[in-house]
Amino acid sequence: MEPHPRPTAPAGSPPLGALPVEPLLTSEFDADPGAVYERLRRRYGPVAPVGLMGVPVWLVLGYTEVTEVLRNESLWRRDVRYWRTRAEGGLPRDWPLLAGYEVRQMMFMDDEEHRAARRTHHSALSPFQDARSPEGWELRASVARYADELVAMLAAESGSVGFADLGAQYTRPLLLMVTTRLFGCPVELGDELVMDLWRMLDGGPDAAPATGRALAAFTRLAAHRRARPGDDLTSYMLLADPDLSDEQLGRELFMNAVYLNDITGNMVLNTLLEVLRGNATVRRSLSAGQLGETVNRAALANPPVANMCFRFAARDVRLGDVWVRAGDVVSPSAAAAHQDLLALGSSYMVGSTISTRAHLGWGAGPHQCPSAARELGSLIVTTAVGRIFDHFTQAELTLPPDQLPWRSGPVVRGLRILPVRYEMAAPHRPEAVPPPAGTAAHAADGQTKGLLAALRRLMFGGRDKGVSGS
Ligand code: HEM
Repeated sequence: MEPHPRPTAPAGSPPLGALPVEPLLTSEFDADPGAVYERLRRRYGPVAPVGLMGVPVWLVLGYTEVTEVLRNESLWRRDVRYWRTRAEGGLPRDWPLLAGYEVRQMMFMDDEEHRAARRTHHSALSPFQDARSPEGWELRASVARYADELVAMLAAESGSVGFADLGAQYTRPLLLMVTTRLFGCPVELGDELVMDLWRMLDGGPDAAPATGRALAAFTRLAAHRRARPGDDLTSYMLLADPDLSDEQLGRELFMNAVYLNDITGNMVLNTLLEVLRGNATVRRSLSAGQLGETVNRAALANPPVANMCFRFAARDVRLGDVWVRAGDVVSPSAAAAHQDLLALGSSYMVGSTISTRAHLGWGAGPHQCPSAARELGSLIVTTAVGRIFDHFTQAELTLPPDQLPWRSGPVVRGLRILPVRYEMAAPHRPEAVPPPAGTAAHAADGQTKGLLAALRRLMFGGRDKGVSGS
């Protein structure tokens, strides 16, 4: 019997490169991405051509189409070598996103190579997500202790009634502290790495050289932990796959550090915002232990990974109302898919017909956030948000929610600042018990004090201007 012929795009269907595209990353998109998705949907249907810094890309907007792309790995590939325009040398040499996609790490692998890398991650991350393991217990206690220390620092600097930017003065330093602890950074490397991650996430003029230095520092960290293993993610990655070279492990650590800082940090801020803008019922739900539901609602309203990383079509395929050709690039948009999903429910809050757990904030399919990383991310988000509202007796936004400034990139959307006026019970006393002397946690505690002093300069060195909303 003749094998079923593979479909090919009909001659009359316009190829991506021939379509007029509107640039996606505009000031309108920064302020109101929902309006842009809506306009594209009206014009093209669930899949629309857009320009990403001058390069045409299919943006997938429909919930059904996004989940199809995320789940069907034999058709939608992650390896950048499938990208036809790149293979043909058609990308601008200095295209800003190319360097990131050329870094060969788990996210851009397919099939067995990808599955093996995920097994390594899973086995290395698992001890930290399990509250019954010593590593899991210690990490939980550390996150709470760091949160308490940062609130104490805020009280010491700005008083028990004052203004704060919960981004620069709480969330970002908290996650940098967690990173040095989880990754097992020695003091000398930790300080330098934290400064560079800070500059990189800031996206300022120093961001590009800081990214290069951070990658190099993660490679040095890999070599350090190979020589001196400890109870940390770096050492456990090496234990799970001793064949990993320092360079490869450095690249994997770098990618995890971005998820841990940028993505998890944005999830903390989005959840804080969800509580701050919510009514008394939302705030009461925190004490009733329903924080997980608030996190889901925040992920649905504002997924930090708004537009997921590229996939490449393995063959010609019809998606939505368009023909995507073999080697075309698509970006599945979780944010647009959520808009689609919410249109089925109520207009603002999630209606009873839609479960908040249907969100794609963790991705879906073979590349979704690994389960151990999800647990870890959730633990950090709920602890960070929970501790703030344990300490603050009052907290209000100092800007109306629709005037908060957002940062929209090709992948991530996050708040630039989260300015609040707070009141806390004074005097503030951290509740967490210090770890016993002589333990690994005790040594790490001393290291964290040094790091806190370094972070203090960044947190209070003029970054709090404008947080009162004036
Ligand atoms: C609340 C926090 C987090 C959110 C919202 C989140 C979200 C996501 C999403 C949407 C993806 C899929 C991206 C895609 O398919 O293009 C992903 C993948 C991934 N995440 Fe997370 N993540 C979080 C925390 C973390 C943490 C804490 C880690 C590790 C320490 C982590 C490690 C990873 C890794 C390694 C992948 C790549 C998986 C693969 O390609 O197979 N994530 N995450």
